Formats: sequence, C-alpha cells, structure tokens
Amino acid sequence: MDFALNETHTMIRDTARQFAADVLLPTADERDDKETFPAQEVKQLGELGFMGMMVPEEYGGAGLDTVSYAVAMEEISKADASCGVIMSVNNSLVCYGLNKYGTEEQKQKYLIPLAKGEKLGAFALSEPEAGSDASNQHTVAVKEGDHYVLNGIKNWITNGTTADVVLVIAQTDPSKGPKGISAFIVEKGTPGFTYGKKERKLGIRSSDTVSLLFENVKIPATNRIGDEGFGFKFAMMTLEGGRIGIAAQALGIAQASLEASVAYSKQRKAFDQPIANLQAIQFKLADMATDIEAARLLVHQAAALKDAGKPFGKEAAMAKLHASRVAVNAALEAIQIHGGYGYVREYKVERYLRDAKITEIYEGTSEIQRIVISRALLKE
Ligand code: CAA
Repeated sequence: MDFALNETHTMIRDTARQFAADVLLPTADERDDKETFPAQEVKQLGELGFMGMMVPEEYGGAGLDTVSYAVAMEEISKADASCGVIMSVNNSLVCYGLNKYGTEEQKQKYLIPLAKGEKLGAFALSEPEAGSDASNQHTVAVKEGDHYVLNGIKNWITNGTTADVVLVIAQTDPSKGPKGISAFIVEKGTPGFTYGKKERKLGIRSSDTVSLLFENVKIPATNRIGDEGFGFKFAMMTLEGGRIGIAAQALGIAQASLEASVAYSKQRKAFDQPIANLQAIQFKLADMATDIEAARLLVHQAAALKDAGKPFGKEAAMAKLHASRVAVNAALEAIQIHGGYGYVREYKVERYLRDAKITEIYEGTSEIQRIVISRALLKE
C-alpha cells in the first residue's frame, strides 16, 4: 500500500528497510537468544536520525512527520522488534512529550541529545498496582522548596537501565486523583534512583525491561513538565501518539511473518509439489496479506490525522487494537505454514510470535484500546 506515501515517506521507508536488512536482521536472533541490548545498533539508528524523527531540526531531530515515523518503525520492527520498541519509546513517548510540553531550558538540556540519539530515554508510568489503571499512582513527589522528593516504584520500564533520562509520572496531590498527578524529568545516576530486577521476557528479549526504584530522590522543580496536576493528561496525550508507534511495530512483525511464509511455501515441497500450490496454504497467505493491508491503512490514517493536527486518539487505538491482533494471527499462521520447522528456532517465525504478543499488552492493552474507542464512539 503506497498510495498514501509521498516521496519523503518512500525514501525513509527504503532507508529503514536497507538498514534493517543489512545491520539488524543478521544479528537479531542472536541478540534475542542472549538477551543482549543492541547498543551499537541503537547508536546507528541515532546517526540515521531515527531516534528523534518527529523533533524539529533546531532541537536535534529529523523534522519528519508521523507517517515517516510509522513507515520507519514498521521496517525496523520487521527485522528486530526489540530495536523497534527501543526506538518507539525514545521517539513517541520521550522526545514527543518533551518537544510538545517541555520548557525551552528542558529542550536545550534534554531533548537535543535525546533526539540526536546521543542519549536514550525511558517513560515511567506503570507501577506494580497501576498498569491499565494508570491513574492509580502510588509514586509520590513532595515539593520541598525548589525541588521535589520522589519515592516509589515503576514497573516494566522499557530502556530502564540504559536510559540516561526518564520521564516519571508521580502523585503530587493524592487528594485530587488524576488531577493531582505530575510529570518529571529524572536523570540516571541521581542519588536514590536505583533499579530492580531485569525482567526475563517471552519476546522482545533484547530490549531492556526493569523496575525503577526511587528512594528520596531529589528532583529540581525546573524538571517538572508542565504545571502541577498536568501529569496524567501529559501521559495520556503522549500515549495516544505512542500507540501509533506500537501499531507500526506490530505491522512490521506481521509483514515479516507473511514474507517468511511466502518464501517458505514456495520452497517447501510436500506431495511432490511446493506447498504454495495447495489452496490451504494459498488461503492463509491471502488472509494474512489482506489483514496486514487493512492494518497498514489504519496505522497510516492515524499518523496522517496526527500530522494534520486533527484528533487521532480513537484512530490510534483502532490501529493498535487491529495491528496487534493481526501480528499475533500472522505469526501463528506463519508457524502453522512452517509446520515443525516453525516451532523451532531454525526459522524466525517462532520469534515473531513471541515478539508479537507484547503489542497486545504494552502502551495500553487491547482491552484499554476498546475502552478508548468505545468512549469516543459514545461521546460522538
Ligand atoms: N487526552 C487528554 N486527556 C485525557 C485523555 C487523553 N487521551 N485520556 C484521559 N484524559 C483526561 C480525562 O479527560 C480526565 O480529565 P478531566 O476530568 O479533566 O476530563 C482525566 O484524564 C482522567 O481520565 P479518565 O477519567 O478517562 O481516567 P481513567 O482512570 O478512567 O483512565 C484509561 C483512562 C484510558 C483507562 C487510562 O488509564 C489508560 O490509558 N490506561 C492504560 C495505560 C497505558 O497505556 N499504559 C502504558 C504504559 S507505557 C508503556 O507501555 C511504554 C512501553 O513500555 C512500551
């Protein structure tokens, strides 16, 4: 599906595709197996301008639109979904949030190195008891003069130990519920900021997922993003865009599953012929391709709405809901087409299934996307 893409979009797509094929794909399985963080590859993504794609050039970014970001995310995730999520968090949660809502001082100090890929960011909203129920924050930040004192635990934080800069959501006035939540910039190495256990995951195994522990961490008041009480809206509005990135990641995994299935079915023989000649296989390929095209249209629609400055929360939720489901189904079908070979690590399709599953969970589960969509429908 190319008709929605302009020349810049196709150029970005081709650059990402080439980089993914040459640099990421040959080593992705090994990183997955050993659970090693792709430090060198992330640095190269930064050099390509892929770590701050939507940030204006004056703040170190590539000055591109969301559609460009979505096509790049798809290509990177097609080769290595772990690199995809690392890139996604830095772009759509950290850089986007700082660019849109940060002060000039915050942009100069934090956004520029993050957008250039010289530093890496993380986004800390989830807690042991605040996943889907994100406003149930237990992390607290108490104002004391010109700084805040932060205490609490954050869970499942992508880029956790590798991030130089973390955007942390915390309660500043528990009596006000969601309106008493604020957002802060916390630097790695700040006294009292430590890490919990590294999570050992089903998929996206070379991304870094940990819990963050804050014990009497002093944060300058100038590191608060927006006003006190703005933190929950900040998180929700930032996540709307983030969901486009994860939908594009899911799309990449689905496309990889389809391409692997097409290639295998032409090469694998059964009953004296390539299995691609069998209608049972042909119908699977047709359904996978159709679902993927529909998901791509939803992803590009949400991105184009965002670029046009129009409301896109419902469409981003639809894109993520659909694309993540398509990714899981495509990976399952790819394994079925590969038979026993699909179930073992010789082929990549078992990784695709393990990587696909998380897209139905993070940045809002499929159930949360349905809440967002249905609330928008009922309000219309
Ligand atoms: N934009 C602006 N404001 C918004 C908003 C949005 N998209 N969504 C909610 N708000 C506002 C509401 O308007 C409301 O403010 P007012 O009272 O002034 O109107 C306030 O926020 C509270 O909203 P709700 O009453 O809707 O809050 P809720 O408790 O019912 O929660 C929810 C809504 C949609 C369920 C939300 O909690 C949610 O999105 N949960 C999922 C959290 C999530 O996506 N977590 C992902 C973690 S990050 C991650 O995964 C990164 C990674 O590792 C890859």
